This record gives sequence, structure tokens and C-alpha cells, in this order.
Amino acid sequence: MKIKTKNLLTIDELSSKEFLGLIDFSIKLKSKKKKTNGKPLLENKTLAMIFEKPSTRTRVSFETGMLQLGGHAISLSLTDMQHSRGESIKDTAKALSRYVDAIVARVYEHSFLEDLAKHATIPVINGLSNSYHPCQTLADLMTVKEYKKKFKGIKIAWVGDGNNVCNSLIFGCSKTQTHLSIATPKGFEPNPAVVKKSSKHTTIDLTTDPKLAVKDADVVMTDSFVSIHDSDAKSKKFLPTYQVNKSLMDKAKNDAIFMHCLPAKRGHEVTNSVMDSTQSVIWDQAENRLHSQKALLASLLSV
Ligand code: CP
Ligand code: NVA
Repeated sequence: MKIKTKNLLTIDELSSKEFLGLIDFSIKLKSKKKKTNGKPLLENKTLAMIFEKPSTRTRVSFETGMLQLGGHAISLSLTDMQHSRGESIKDTAKALSRYVDAIVARVYEHSFLEDLAKHATIPVINGLSNSYHPCQTLADLMTVKEYKKKFKGIKIAWVGDGNNVCNSLIFGCSKTQTHLSIATPKGFEPNPAVVKKSSKHTTIDLTTDPKLAVKDADVVMTDSFVSIHDSDAKSKKFLPTYQVNKSLMDKAKNDAIFMHCLPAKRGHEVTNSVMDSTQSVIWDQAENRLHSQKALLASLLSV
């Protein structure tokens, strides 16, 4: 399928129709139902992957995805690039655009990605910034669709930090008209501009009460209280109130699923009993990074 946007930096670049189409395409690719006329979708295409922060899932799923689509990926640590010696983002973008077909970058400052996207003549994908994690949202809502079969009428509860993953999820819920209830401590709310814009298309509730957020929820999601760019002291503000444990899960619907983008700090934002319960779909969620990113890459590269 084709999508209009050149880059994916937040999720909001996608129309609702494109977002829903990408989810269905991801599910088709997973079941290998997508016809390719025998030709790999990304034959001879190369993806440059720039990492300024650590990663397990993003790095491996993008590299494996490119391989499975007939292409190739190059993993680059930002500290090993000439940028670390002062080459501008603009010149880095222009040089990479002459070699590869797309760039994924995991960085601290979101403005780095905006600069990269402005100067690159090829698609730029956000592999996580301090502000957004759009690839996670594609996999997360793909997983919700697989388990719940629909978006309208589904309630997702987000418990913990209103962080990068939460900001992109809000956009994803607005594209799919999924009800999202977010419980964070005061001062840890998601980006208000994202909430305001998305609230025009779906119901986004903000509360400080996790029990209220998970009431009647079909999906309970959390993430590490301390993101890569945060300081450890932050977790004190969350424990014990915002931990997803059995008692909190029991307040959601009986058939509610538990999701976490991973990596998790077991015993902090979530207990072992929830992570390893039959309600937990975290490994399917992690696997879906691979399928949804393959769909994204094929769509951005218009094949
Ligand atoms: N969820 C996620 O992005 O995982 P990594 O940090 O391991 O890439
Ligand atoms: N919020 C987390 C997500 C990790 C995938 C972080 O930014 O570290």
C-alpha cells in the first residue's frame, strides 16, 4: 500500500485510513498472505539505522525485517559517525541520502529527527526520541486488533508515565477512535498539545487514579517509569500507586490483556505475576514490531 507521508516521526503524519490500512497490511504480512509475485518487496533496498541510545527490539526487528523483505540494513552508532566530530545533521542527511533508501534513527532530541527529515531526500523513521515512539504504536495497535478484532468500543488504560510511548499511542488511538484512559502522577502527564489535538477524534481521559483508568478496560498498558533519557530518582513518584499488579489487573475487564513495550523493570511498573500471566501478550507485542515495521517500510518506499 502507498502512504502520502515521506517520513514517520510521530504517527500524526498518517491519516486515519492510512493508519488502519497499515495495521491490516501488517497482519497480512504476518500471515504471509500478501502477494509479492515472487519478488521480495524491498529487493536491493538499504536501510541505515542510527542509534544514539541503546536498543534491543528496534535494532533487531528492523534489521531482520529488511532481510526478510530482500533488502539490507546497516547499524550505525551515532558516536562512530562524523556527526560526533561536528558534521552537521544536514550534511549527514545529504550524504546518507546518496547511499541508502531510508533512515531509521533513535535519538534523544526529537528536533534531530526533524532536521534529518528536512534535509534527507529519502524517508526518515523515528526509532524513538525523547518525545515519540511511533513504531511502537503501530505494533501495539496491531496487537490490540489481533486480540480484540476491532478498535471502536475498545478501552485502553495507560498506567504510569505520560512518556514518548504514551504520546504516540494517543495519536494512534485518535486514528483508530479507540478510547484511551491515562493515569499518571501529577506532573507526568503526556504532551498537552497531543492530547488536545487527538481529543477531537476520540475520548482521551486523564486522571491520577489508576483504578479509575483500568475500570472496564480491554487493554492495560504500561512502560518503564524511567526512560532512557530520565534520571532514576523519578521512579519514587510512581511506586507503589502506579504499579500494574494482580489487584489492579482485576479491576479491568475479565478478558483484559496486559501490554508493555519492553524493556520492563520487573517489580517496578509491573509485577512478575502480571508479566508472566495468561493475560500478558507482551511477546506477541514484541514480535509485531517486526511485522508492522515491514509494512511501514514497504509502504514508505511505495512498493
Ligand atoms: N520497545 C523498544 O523499542 O525496545 P528496544 O528499546 O529494545 O528497541
Ligand atoms: N519510554 C522508554 C521506551 C523504551 C522502548 C524509553 O524511552 O526509554
